Amino acid sequence: MSAIASAPALLGVYARVGPQFVAGDGVELIADDGTRYLDFVAGIAVNALGYDSRVIRTAIAGALDSGLVHVSNLYRTEPAERLAEELVARSFADQVFFCNSGAEANEAAFKFARKWTGKTEIVAFSGSFHGRLFASLAATDRPDYRKPFEPLLAGVHIVPLGDRAAAERAIAPEKTAAVIIEPVQGEGGVRPVPADWLALLRALCDERRVALIFDEVQCGLGRTGSLFAYEQAGVVPDLLTLAKPLAGGLPMGAVLLTDRAAGALAPGDHATTFGGGPLVASVALAVLRTIDDSDFLFAVRSKGHWLGRRLAALGARCRRVTDVRGLGLMWGIELAEPAAPFVTAARERGLLVATAGPNVLRLVPPLVISTQELERGVGILEEVLA
Ligand SMILES: Cc1ncc(COP(=O)(O)O)c(C=O)c1O
Repeated sequence: MSAIASAPALLGVYARVGPQFVAGDGVELIADDGTRYLDFVAGIAVNALGYDSRVIRTAIAGALDSGLVHVSNLYRTEPAERLAEELVARSFADQVFFCNSGAEANEAAFKFARKWTGKTEIVAFSGSFHGRLFASLAATDRPDYRKPFEPLLAGVHIVPLGDRAAAERAIAPEKTAAVIIEPVQGEGGVRPVPADWLALLRALCDERRVALIFDEVQCGLGRTGSLFAYEQAGVVPDLLTLAKPLAGGLPMGAVLLTDRAAGALAPGDHATTFGGGPLVASVALAVLRTIDDSDFLFAVRSKGHWLGRRLAALGARCRRVTDVRGLGLMWGIELAEPAAPFVTAARERGLLVATAGPNVLRLVPPLVISTQELERGVGILEEVLA
């Protein structure tokens, strides 16, 4: 197995490790020496349809036939309009704003919430991750990511998840513009948030005229076995952010919002040059139609149940494992010790997994993975954790 020692021309903000990948096939990444890696990372929950997907190839080729990669948002294009209509038809939302990443989607959602409510403050929760820009980082509960860049956006409060009294104190009728939460926390350790907590936030936001934002950048678009994670909780937000798998690996984010929230926004209030360009929007349409299919989502749920049972059995046998939790094809294995050495050990045996915080192994394979491939990966994990 080959490894790049260093890439001096690339800014060293990533601790890149392991081989250099040159190709992808199904649910495997292929290194420059031909070694194949079973991929339970999927570009960190991006490559939902796996590698070399026919759906994505066909969508890109079809979009390129028009000769349009980018057209300014000064003008109309069909793919963005159709994608917005299809997202609206499949969700609580009435309107959509397109951008280029998850952090950008959350930054936009904060601006929209401020304009709508006429207030400024934001409430987020322990274990949250909402991005690395100045407002999204302020709402992210990772002191090590925040500290070097303070002061971040002021007026953002991080409240212990599950502490009702603290939430009631922090969500202030006269000051709070938005409450933001991931229905299933990703980076914070793969933690499904209980439906009754989401319902409590919904009630507090209604009572205090606060925008409720669900960040489904990681858990949305089929990852949990329903198109949107909020559907399983039965709680509907005012704004919802998407990114990661939306355009099949091309950069794209989105904010879905109700007419009520959108009503405060006028031309010039927000913009981004590349948002919703014809190429990315065409690919996103193909991804959305593929995922929002009852057989596809049923398969995600049944593979997820199978994986959950297998991981629970693994956890019961292995003393290092202190908890196993997840939903659909988004699982965390919490360990009694740092998880990073097990990521390395798994990679050395041909399996890619990620961490989610210091002690949690995160499994977010492509949604198209087969049960046999899941079995192969769990077998490697079992060896590594033994
Ligand atoms: C829940 C959530 N929100 C926001 C982001 C930020 O997305 P991006 O890296 O595309 O800015 C991430 C990225 O991991 C995420 O998991």
